[in-house]
Amino acid sequence: MSKIISKNTLENIRARVDIAELIGSYIALKRAGSNFKALCPFHKEKTPSFHVNPHRQIFHCFGCGAGGDIFSFVMQHEGMAFTDAAAMLAERAGVVLDLDDGGADDGLDKNALYRLNADAAAFYHRTLLESPSAATARDYLASRRLNPETIENFQIGYAPPGWDAVLNGAQKKGYSVEQLESVGLILKSEKTGRPDRYYDRFRDRVMFPICDEQNRVIGFSGRTLIKDEKAAKYVNSPETPLFKKSRVLFALHRARRAILDTREALVCEGQIDVIRCHQEGLTAAVASQGTAFTEDHARILQRYADSICLAFDPDKAGQEAAIRAARVFFQAGLAVRVAALPVGEDADSFIREHGLPAFQQHIGRARSAIGFQAKILSGSEDFGSEVGLMRASKSMLETVACSSDAVQRETLLREAAEVLNLPVPALRENLRRFMAKQQRGNRPEEENSDGQAQNIVRPRDEVELCEHAVHAADRPEIVALIEQRLPWDALSDSACKSVLEAVVAAAREQRPVQETLFARSDASGEFQRFFSGLLASPPKVVGAESSQLDAVRDLILCLWRNKLKRERQALSGADAAERQAQITYDLYHLKNWDDGQDIIDFEIARRDEANTVKVENDQ
Ligand code: CTP
Ligand code: MN
Repeated sequence: MSKIISKNTLENIRARVDIAELIGSYIALKRAGSNFKALCPFHKEKTPSFHVNPHRQIFHCFGCGAGGDIFSFVMQHEGMAFTDAAAMLAERAGVVLDLDDGGADDGLDKNALYRLNADAAAFYHRTLLESPSAATARDYLASRRLNPETIENFQIGYAPPGWDAVLNGAQKKGYSVEQLESVGLILKSEKTGRPDRYYDRFRDRVMFPICDEQNRVIGFSGRTLIKDEKAAKYVNSPETPLFKKSRVLFALHRARRAILDTREALVCEGQIDVIRCHQEGLTAAVASQGTAFTEDHARILQRYADSICLAFDPDKAGQEAAIRAARVFFQAGLAVRVAALPVGEDADSFIREHGLPAFQQHIGRARSAIGFQAKILSGSEDFGSEVGLMRASKSMLETVACSSDAVQRETLLREAAEVLNLPVPALRENLRRFMAKQQRGNRPEEENSDGQAQNIVRPRDEVELCEHAVHAADRPEIVALIEQRLPWDALSDSACKSVLEAVVAAAREQRPVQETLFARSDASGEFQRFFSGLLASPPKVVGAESSQLDAVRDLILCLWRNKLKRERQALSGADAAERQAQITYDLYHLKNWDDGQDIIDFEIARRDEANTVKVENDQ
């Protein structure tokens, strides 16, 4: 499904886009020596800890740990997938991305599909403004008090009542039926026994184009003008190569700036709610496309926000949706508040009736998600009874457990204890048990999660070795030492191992180490954060050249000692005693390099021998 962009193309883009220029086009950079500094766009801060290093072509924030190359910057800042970021940078660099190598799943040209959607949006919009058939729609929008400027900004439109306005119009402009069908603008008639017949999906509806973060139209939502319980109130585009509901946040490209300013996103239920907020000046509002919130939504919002304020409808469905959404956002490490609107109102109607200041007051008073859940539970559970308390606390702990942040969990836990009037330790104990049970059930998933966790603790000695290695990549004697004498199989951290491998590969290929590191385009965000941090830090040892060599030797000795100690501990069985004695001897000599290097070579030879024997036995 996903495109493979060749390494060459990526290198090409990298060579042509200057990272300082790129980042400078998003935020204000200040020169600081050979680097640039700025206030970090990924977290809120008062003094700049965000560094851009044009020599290494990387950025790194010493405050929040964000970091990477041009691709990761665009991915994080725009909330884009890698291929989209690459496409955007390719355009900027004037590099041609062969989008047809799997671009659209079925050989369709994605760029043409974007153009088709943009043309359709323009057609609907023009129809709304000009066509006599749109008089009712114009009245409707006026009655909902959506003003002309808003209609313009959101390119609201009208799909005429016929069956083929878009079908015919687009074909006249040169689009194919296949293209129209693949973006979901037309449908095939179900009637059998006839040649294929197509008709417009959207008819006699007010049309809301849905845009991605680059403001490209990716789909539509069409609202009916009639009050008919049977007719669907909204008809939306289906999933298409451009439109993935699990990732779409309505109006995000308009809300991004405001969200970044306060680091809080206002998440509403419907697009009209969002449009109302924006019209009244509350421009941090977004909504999902009428679907539940997903990890992808959370990840995208997390680029801009530390906190989410949910303003959902106060009915039962809205309340449950709020709790589910809170759990998803907790997983991403976001804080969540819930604004409880009066029954029967949504953000749109509330603002229209009571005005923006009243709405803002409501948002200001929004309570934490756990407090909100307690309030809801108190409606169905008796907190005065044993069983009521047990049920309520269980349900609340399930929410707390979703948080990936220990501080957040503790805060939520204390709040839960307070509203339930229970001692914190009791809740903490239940939470611990619940999470342990959950983890046992989730093992395999945990393994392939690509390090979403924020604060991965890596072994100190391996990290330190990496810190030396990236800065010594141009020193053959150090690289050779790492390549030949490292206990590679004993490295426990895969990111450290990758970095060390990249250093060795860079030396062999005579390329700068950051190139081999970033060439790993499959690398997860966590990995990129890690090595951009390494690259951005000053060299470990500033003194004599020899001291760096010594430091690397010491670290290698240390890794060997740890490896052998672990082996000795795990020994059992008949030959154990002999090997134990051997290891004790080794450990004694692994204290300084002069003795140690022989022991290392001996252990390596021993391991190679064991491997050869094993291979022979296997055959
Ligand atoms: N929705 C949908 N399909 C439906 C109903 C709703 O996709 N049949 C989605 C829409 O994105 C809508 C959101 O769910 O914006 C919220 O639905 P609802 O609260 O019913 O609509 P409102 O946004 O309040 O729309 P309106 O004010 O026009 O009634
Ligand atoms: Mn509404």
